[in-house]
Amino acid sequence: MSNKPAKGDRAQWASSLGFILAAAGSAVGLGNIWKFPGKAYEGGGGVYILTYILIVILIGATAMIAELTVGRATQKNAVGAFRVLAPRWKWVGGLGVFTGFVILGYYTQVGGWVLQYITAYLVRPEEVYGDPQRFFLNQVLGADRFPLAGAFLFPLLFIACVVLVIVHGVEGGIERFNKLAMPALFLLLLVLLGRSVTLPGADAGLRYLLSFDFSALNGSVLLSALGQAFYSLSLGMGIMCTYGSYVKRTENLGKNTAMICSLDTLVALIAAFIVIPAVFATGVEPGKGASFAFVSLAGVFERMPLGSFFGVIFYTLLFFAALTSAISLLEGTVAYLTEEKGLPRTRATVLTAAGMFCIGVLYTLSQVHFNIRGVWLDGASGLSFPAFGDFLEYLTDRLMTPLGALAYCVFVGWVWGPKQAVAEIEQEGVRFPLAKPWAVLVKYVVPAAIVVILFAGMVMGLTLS
Ligand code: PFF
Repeated sequence: MSNKPAKGDRAQWASSLGFILAAAGSAVGLGNIWKFPGKAYEGGGGVYILTYILIVILIGATAMIAELTVGRATQKNAVGAFRVLAPRWKWVGGLGVFTGFVILGYYTQVGGWVLQYITAYLVRPEEVYGDPQRFFLNQVLGADRFPLAGAFLFPLLFIACVVLVIVHGVEGGIERFNKLAMPALFLLLLVLLGRSVTLPGADAGLRYLLSFDFSALNGSVLLSALGQAFYSLSLGMGIMCTYGSYVKRTENLGKNTAMICSLDTLVALIAAFIVIPAVFATGVEPGKGASFAFVSLAGVFERMPLGSFFGVIFYTLLFFAALTSAISLLEGTVAYLTEEKGLPRTRATVLTAAGMFCIGVLYTLSQVHFNIRGVWLDGASGLSFPAFGDFLEYLTDRLMTPLGALAYCVFVGWVWGPKQAVAEIEQEGVRFPLAKPWAVLVKYVVPAAIVVILFAGMVMGLTLS
């Protein structure tokens, strides 16, 4: 179990910035812009945000360092990394590849919906405004027709963009694309932030986000923040292991982790400071899950000056965020198939994309077929993700992601050993001053925290959203 030397011919990030932006691109996704604002709202505003930040610093960053070092030490994909270090742990890599595959399935569908909304806000916003819920149900999910656009055409367009980037390789595709997409994403965020906080009445939302009512903090909020942090930082799926395997030995993994976690958290915070003040200012009732981004926000855009324009900007932002995360999810499986199974890169990319597309289609289709239409259309129970959709999200976010992150931490803390990991970080003159506290966190604190999430997740099941 020693740190293997890098193979000269393996793909590498060309620059430090390129790696940070690619990893931040993976982390910043639907989780930040679609999920985080809703969770911050439900979790009591400022208290949730503060808790989330502490979790990212103590738990998320620790687990990220563990995953990145395993990748860089072995210069391998998620499965190959364990094959080299400890073959008995190969299942951790396999679990990650499988989870990434499943997440990409529904990510592609939601990415497709986002493209459909960009088109709708561009050409016929009145149709969305007329009845936002009905638009989402009928035009996107196909409650009253076959969802050709929402489940097939737009998701196909989305996955085609992902495939296009991946076939161009690590540096020429992923790194180059993220170097454009991430600055664009920040620009869009700032435009939207400016619009939102200057809306009359936005101050109530700002006050809510900056209020610290500690009585709002309970076990369920804490667990929701923990799960959100892992998901948002793309941990537990071998994605950071794979991205870490393309990092040069001269790079400072500790510092890079700090940058990636900061960027990811910053985007989540800005998203909350966009969505919540706008929701308060326009008096729109915030929904849960998908209905927050696809139904509630229509009311916000309808009521704000130049709303359709800002609608296009918002969904373009969501598109970039989803795309850069989807790219990392596909790369995880492609790296595995090319390195472990010897498939050519293009074939591995197309095969994986096709496979997960088929699983993903079920996600949109199930929204209609596993539902009693009347319940939705009456609005009696509001919009929620039922059956297969819930099941997929539960399986990936609540179960497999924390299990994967736990496995990486236990592996690094107890099997490979923090000493090896620190030696991997401290090369080429790089210092890791936090080595000691990090070793304690990775061995004891983080595994214990994850066991609590897993246990609570299983006991409380879907009630934790
Ligand atoms: N971090 C992404 C988000 O916040 O939406 C989701 C994700 C991407 C999770 C890649 C896991 C992953 F490997």
